[in-house]
Amino acid sequence: MNLKTRYLGLDLDSPLMVGASPLANDLDMVKRLEDAGSSAITMPSLFEEQITREQFGTLYDLEAGSESFAEATSYFANVSELRLGPDNYLEQIGKVKRAVNVPVIASLNGVTASGWLDFAKQIQQAGADALELNLYYLATNPLETADSVEKRLLEITRTVKHNVSIPLAVKLSPFFTSLAHFAKMLEGAGADAVVLFNRFYQPDLDIEALEVEPSLSLSTSSTLRLRLRWLAVLHSQIAMPMAVSGGVHTPEDAIKATMAGATGVQVVSALLKHGPERLKAIGQGMARWMEEHEYESLDQMRGSLSLLKCPNPQAFERSNYMRVLAGWKA
Ligand SMILES: Cc1cc2nc3c(=O)[nH]c(=O)nc-3n(C[C@H](O)[C@H](O)[C@H](O)COP(=O)(O)O)c2cc1C
Repeated sequence: MNLKTRYLGLDLDSPLMVGASPLANDLDMVKRLEDAGSSAITMPSLFEEQITREQFGTLYDLEAGSESFAEATSYFANVSELRLGPDNYLEQIGKVKRAVNVPVIASLNGVTASGWLDFAKQIQQAGADALELNLYYLATNPLETADSVEKRLLEITRTVKHNVSIPLAVKLSPFFTSLAHFAKMLEGAGADAVVLFNRFYQPDLDIEALEVEPSLSLSTSSTLRLRLRWLAVLHSQIAMPMAVSGGVHTPEDAIKATMAGATGVQVVSALLKHGPERLKAIGQGMARWMEEHEYESLDQMRGSLSLLKCPNPQAFERSNYMRVLAGWKA
């Protein structure tokens, strides 16, 4: 069965690949992922804060003052927990490249359009085949308009694109007032693909200790639903390929994402839970399902459940919403 796909300017044997995560920090794991059919290796992100010395210093200062401001500083990331520094990150790109034959996608994560973005050039020089730019940003300032947030994120995208000639994917959160418009603008800014979505890790509150508890819960297949909706909405409206990230645990999940319009299928939680071999099981399950249902390629199936043929996606959404609410039975 042919699972070939073209994503992010790369001809890949399969849409299935490991998503950005610490899995690519370990070379044995990277080889196991390739053996299990990961068609590319996505590296964990290198953060803007790790590159920008000034901010790096600021965070260290906050940590150093933690005795006097324990409650306040508990809100800040402990930078020393972020593993690979910029030099080690570049080295790791080279090591992963040498360890596998599949393309390596590096990842940068940041939110300001400033000098740190030059680092993208070094990532390319280190041998990355493509770059994923994670625009993980929570807008908390009441004086900052949605328009200014979007302009800044587009500026970051344009700057990175200007700095590299390798393909550039942008990984987004779902929290945009007009995501379809923003995705279109990203295309104009030079993005070659879009990854839907980031997962925001939602900290809990410890009401006894009066502390914030940063928690990282792995996804389940239900996480996929939000991605399916937006893949389906965007499929006919943007030209750049889309990857799904979030909630792919089974062959059926990967098939749904493809039918909604994905050309890349990134997996992290399922591999952390079950090991890299899970990717092989997902790929085999996809191939089996396609054979049983007489699909010859992913191209044939892609977008078959998008809103492509729907003249008015907005009316479709609202009528479904009303139908679901009206159909509820206790
Ligand atoms: C332990 C862990 C580390 C992650 N690190 C990164 C990262 O460095 N950069 C990034 O863009 N996403 C990172 N992610 C998010 C994943 O790439 C992915 O978007 C998210 O886990 C949803 O996919 P899943 O449902 O397959 O887990 C991380 C996720 C986990 C669980």
